[in-house]
Amino acid sequence: MTRKKLIAGNWKMNGSLEANEALVRAVLAGLPGAAGDRAEAAVCVPAPYLSQVQQLAKGTALATGAQDVSVHASGAYTGEVSAAMLREFGARYAIVGHSERRQYHGETDAQVADKAKAALAAGITPIVCVGETLAEREAGQTEAVVKRQLAAVIHVNGHCISEIVVAYEPVWAIGTGKTATPEQAQQVHAVLRAQLHAASTHDDRVRILYGGSMNAANAATLLAQPDIDGGLIGGASLKAADFLQIIAAASAAAA
Ligand code: PGA
Repeated sequence: MTRKKLIAGNWKMNGSLEANEALVRAVLAGLPGAAGDRAEAAVCVPAPYLSQVQQLAKGTALATGAQDVSVHASGAYTGEVSAAMLREFGARYAIVGHSERRQYHGETDAQVADKAKAALAAGITPIVCVGETLAEREAGQTEAVVKRQLAAVIHVNGHCISEIVVAYEPVWAIGTGKTATPEQAQQVHAVLRAQLHAASTHDDRVRILYGGSMNAANAATLLAQPDIDGGLIGGASLKAADFLQIIAAASAAAA
């Protein structure tokens, strides 16, 4: 099965009404040419801007997504945003378990698995992030760490696992300008692919994105790897020209 490549921008905590409008309009202007019908594009934006970006992208091929979701459906959880709320504002995707959430907000594998479940229950595709720190890589634990992180999500989500997107994001590559080599990334993606295959008969639907300093210059070689089905793009998704070049590389890789 050929999986349509997905390029998802992760704006993180960046943007303003004015900057978002300029960025989204520029992305939309170049999107048909860059993506063709061979690649999908999405932007995962801060929750307050979902409505704005949903309006700007209405009727276009650009999907919108959130960067986190609550495990809870509703109630006394100050500051939390539920999957149903995100859905009302058109979120098609929600990043869960980003390393910045794991690191700065203490999210555990079990919570990440529950967040994926909450998203799926609301009809939102979770983009489940896994990845090792530099210390874990140097200690030879890369495979064990990513397998443990994905196993928790498989355990809680059972047969729905074919509905998720996985993002392999080595923590040492995020925002550092240090990208995993295509071979390093492919090696981990193959491990994740095998794990998904063992868990589901529909695993060939699941896209495994690479994230961590993917940019206009290195996207093509990463996306040429057999098990790299797209990218989760931080810094480079804030520049329309760079983001469009990455989308064009995904489209070319799929040709
Ligand atoms: P980066 O971030 O592209 O800026 O490294 C990727 C991410 O954290 O999703």
